[in-house]
Amino acid sequence: MTEQLIQAAKEARTHAYVPYSHFQVGAVVRVGDAVYAGANIENASFGLSMCAERNAIFAAVMAGHQQLDEITVIGDTAGPISPCGACRQVMAEFMAPNAPVTLANLHGTTQVTTVGELLPGAFTKGDLNQ
Ligand code: THU
Repeated sequence: MTEQLIQAAKEARTHAYVPYSHFQVGAVVRVGDAVYAGANIENASFGLSMCAERNAIFAAVMAGHQQLDEITVIGDTAGPISPCGACRQVMAEFMAPNAPVTLANLHGTTQVTTVGELLPGAFTKGDLNQ
């Protein structure tokens, strides 16, 4: 399963639009048997660029899912790719703290961690209801 998801993330990566960074990232979110893909999409107004992880998560949400089972990310990094802070926060919105996050690179290095490990003490909707 993990290997299939890594291959799917690698395929998603080929859809990246990265004329500025030239750094392609692919991600897939799994919900049950369904898989939603994303790649990073940049913009001439750099700050409008969107990461692969958030594009995959938002695709799953748009398909009607608000509780996602796991996410897999791949990029051409030396070690396992490290999701940015914004993506960690968005993972925490739609995934349980113990949900698996698989971080991969093109050289076959893989690290499996969790949303809670990537963002301890996340701000969540529960914090708004005190
Ligand atoms: N990027 C991602 O899509 N995900 C990550 O985990 C790290 C960074 C993108 C953002 C930008 O398009 C490019 O990689 C360089 O930062």
